[in-house]
Amino acid sequence: MPTASRPPAPPVAPGRLPLIGHALALWRRPLEFLDSLTAYDPIVATHLGPKPSYVLTGPDLVHRVLVTEAANYAKGRSFDKLRPYLGNGLATSEGAFHLRQRRLVQPAFHHQQIAHYVDTMARLAAERADSWRPGQVVDVTRQMLELSLAIVTSTLFSTSLDASAAAEIRHAMPVVLHGMYTRVLDPTNLWHRLPTPGNRRRADAHDRLRRAIDHLIHADRADRADRTSGRPDLLSMLLQARDADSGEAMTDRQLHDELITLLVAGTETAAGGLAWLFHELGRHPHLDRRLHQELHDHAVLPLTADQLPRLGHTRRVVDEALRMRNPGGITIRRAITDVELGGYRFREGTEFIFSALVLHRNPRHFPHPLRFDPDRWLPDRPPAPRGAFVPFGAGHHLCIGEAFARTEMLTVAATVASRWRLTPAPGARVRGVMTSTNHPDNLLMTVEPRPEAD
Ligand code: HEM
Repeated sequence: MPTASRPPAPPVAPGRLPLIGHALALWRRPLEFLDSLTAYDPIVATHLGPKPSYVLTGPDLVHRVLVTEAANYAKGRSFDKLRPYLGNGLATSEGAFHLRQRRLVQPAFHHQQIAHYVDTMARLAAERADSWRPGQVVDVTRQMLELSLAIVTSTLFSTSLDASAAAEIRHAMPVVLHGMYTRVLDPTNLWHRLPTPGNRRRADAHDRLRRAIDHLIHADRADRADRTSGRPDLLSMLLQARDADSGEAMTDRQLHDELITLLVAGTETAAGGLAWLFHELGRHPHLDRRLHQELHDHAVLPLTADQLPRLGHTRRVVDEALRMRNPGGITIRRAITDVELGGYRFREGTEFIFSALVLHRNPRHFPHPLRFDPDRWLPDRPPAPRGAFVPFGAGHHLCIGEAFARTEMLTVAATVASRWRLTPAPGARVRGVMTSTNHPDNLLMTVEPRPEAD
């Protein structure tokens, strides 16, 4: 029921066109379109299909939908389109099954376990940074994508990943990610079935990825009996996981779905976050110098897990990148009963969207939101209200990789920045691109050695 002070329906976002609504704006200028919604509080209607979807811009409403009233909502329709790729893995499953799987997968992301992954993260970041030469211009987004894929695959499969399987996964993944994105956006649901060269290439990459993962699962099961010592990787932890009630292990099929979900969810997101982070450091030399000074004063390379807590400024740079340049995509929930939000009533089946980027650029909660200011995260500053800073979501679908991603961003930023200063390449025009993630395109940066006195 609308309240006396509210009109009967939420305001509609500007720029709605006949028939296609806001779809063109979201397709062509997603970041600008999402930015324009920060002016609405706490809810605004968008037309992306036959029915309106409501973008939640008020942190309190986001918290209700994701946490306190989560039982009234399920994942939106776009998740159905991801099922052919992710099966019934964590990102697409719901209810009791999701909870069971979450409990089985969680130990592999325990803080203690993540501390073990730091060595791998630092080694791979150092190898990548050492492959650059002074004065070289690098495409930072591409470099970070390759690096984060190497980090996820090496931590998932360290004990069993041979070079050819690694290469297969690394080649297939970007093509599969692109295919998923085009499928989610396709309103006809037919495009991916047409025998175009692009679709054939995507289907082939998907097959190769599936085969490579199945091969790794079988190789690891066979090999596990021989292994008596050594640090467990994520795959071996998942193989050993047992349901607390039934004592059952995961089936190979389920294991496959979880692994592919982790690869997909954990690659482009972290890479996008890191690419934006270097973009901002390049634009703010004083913050870059502070970061380098902190490393000089408090860190011994290669980084180890016990050194990370000393890197306060670097951690705040990571948080600020996650706020202002949030790399995640949009999150969608569908009401499974009639609901009330923001003083309006909505029918069962209504879809709600929230974008961390919109929430994180709200001037009411983040003064001067487009100013990249890591100091806003200093402990003596007032914290953002609940639901206002949600780079990893919230509630029972909270990103399982949050600690992993934060550790990765911190370790990579520190390792690269200790060796090089990345400055914007002359003339390169960086553009924000929103596919399934938000990342910079054409981020060409020059690799400069650190001056002695830096
Ligand atoms: C900066 C990097 C990352 C960001 C911004 C991010 C963001 C998110 C968000 C917002 C969600 C919630 C989606 C929803 O509620 O529908 C999520 C879920 C998830 N993320 Fe991440 N993520 C990142 C890195 C990772 C990494 C590194 C991994 C794994 C290695 C990962 C694995 C997952 C999984 C499996 C889920 C589904 C969890 C569930 O529904 O139980 N993510 N992520």
